Amino acid sequence: MIDLIPLGEAGVDAAAAVHGAAVQDGERWSRAAIATLLAMPGAFGFLAPGKYGSAGFILARVVADEAEIFYLAVRPEARRNGIGRRLFAAALGEAGRRGCRRLYLEVAEDNLPAHALYSGAGLAAVGRRAGYYRRSAGPAVDALVMARDI
Ligand SMILES: CC(C)(COP(=O)(O)OP(=O)(O)OC[C@H]1O[C@@H](n2cnc3c(N)ncnc32)[C@H](O)[C@@H]1OP(=O)(O)O)[C@@H](O)C(=O)NCCC(=O)NCCS
Repeated sequence: MIDLIPLGEAGVDAAAAVHGAAVQDGERWSRAAIATLLAMPGAFGFLAPGKYGSAGFILARVVADEAEIFYLAVRPEARRNGIGRRLFAAALGEAGRRGCRRLYLEVAEDNLPAHALYSGAGLAAVGRRAGYYRRSAGPAVDALVMARDI
């Protein structure tokens, strides 16, 4: 099993490269955007080592006793190997260690792989943001807010 690496400044380029490879229809996060998120109070993340520096990453934030996942991504060629599940579990564990009691995230309603991963990890839909994700073609897609206790 691969060892995850805490995401620090040195891993931001690798995370940005994964994001660029993973996002199909949406805004690609620049290195600066990821560095800014990571510099927020309570922010943390993990990298999965792999091709081009990383096969995947997760970025999250803790505020008081709640955690939010900003993003989870795995390179297309590295998917279905349990890396996404493992990154999520690492973030959940870290949030628990930091005293969080509940974890939230937003996911596009049409993102079936992510839904499957999150449902399998114990999250359930608790809300909806209408038209939250714009698409290059077609109508905007709702975001589902998913959550679970820690
Ligand atoms: C969602 C994502 C992170 C999953 O990463 P991954 O490494 O392939 O996920 P895992 O291999 O750990 O899969 C864990 C479980 O999730 C589910 N799952 C993952 N991909 C799936 C797919 N394409 N179809 C159906 N179920 C899927 C399965 O239940 C899987 O378990 P199994 O392989 O034992 O059946 C990856 O597809 C990705 O980067 N997508 C683009 C970015 C994205 O949408 N991020 C989420 C933003 S909220």
